[in-house]
Amino acid sequence: MILAANWKLHFGPKETHNYLKEFLQLASQVTEDVQFIFFPPALCLPQTAEILKTTKIKWGAQNTFFEDEGAFTGETSPKEVAHLGASYGLVGHSERRHFFKESNEWVIQKFHALIRHNLTPILCVGETLEQRNHGQTLQVIQEQIQFLSNKLPPFLIAYEPVWAIGTGQVATPEQAQEVHQSIKSFLKEKGISDIPVLYGGSVKSANAPALFSQKDVDGFLVGGASLKPQSFFDIYQSVKDML
Ligand code: PGA
Repeated sequence: MILAANWKLHFGPKETHNYLKEFLQLASQVTEDVQFIFFPPALCLPQTAEILKTTKIKWGAQNTFFEDEGAFTGETSPKEVAHLGASYGLVGHSERRHFFKESNEWVIQKFHALIRHNLTPILCVGETLEQRNHGQTLQVIQEQIQFLSNKLPPFLIAYEPVWAIGTGQVATPEQAQEVHQSIKSFLKEKGISDIPVLYGGSVKSANAPALFSQKDVDGFLVGGASLKPQSFFDIYQSVKDML
């Protein structure tokens, strides 16, 4: 399984150091098949690279621009993130789409920029509450993944209903399964298979087992519950007997 931590705008280099040292201790006995991935804020990536370089734990950037360099004030270069040793990049997170007005076109360009640097994209998709209430969930998600093709190297998808992110209101296992299954069958029609689909949105150790018991839920992208090493590790512990 894949267990990814999205720290969002939390922690500086010092907290990153302390957190990761503590987490490495917790994870030192893990033998099950789990891939931990951390997404710290950009300022903490060098620290993360240093601490994790001799471990099996992977990491990536929460956001990278689609150009490698140039007059783009405030942006983060995917090329430099790759040089630091990252493996992954988040793209299309709903906070980027909504707060920063990132269009689907930008998401697509950023996705391809990650691929260009051999970073594995985790493409985040999800519907708003209004869209769900109007019965548009599957259609919205299909539009967000429409651009994917079977010519692409491996990538991941994270289904994160906008209404479940940071709200404590988690999707039911059935709601998650319905969307995950539809993502996989849509991709299959395009000749794309074996793409892990993570669920994100108010995941914690108390709700993780029921979600993970669903056939097409392959792991989690965790925000709030990833901000403490123990509560993030507890999610793994809550599902480890199912691995
Ligand atoms: P949350 O965030 O776990 O705090 O809901 C998930 C995410 O935004 O990736």
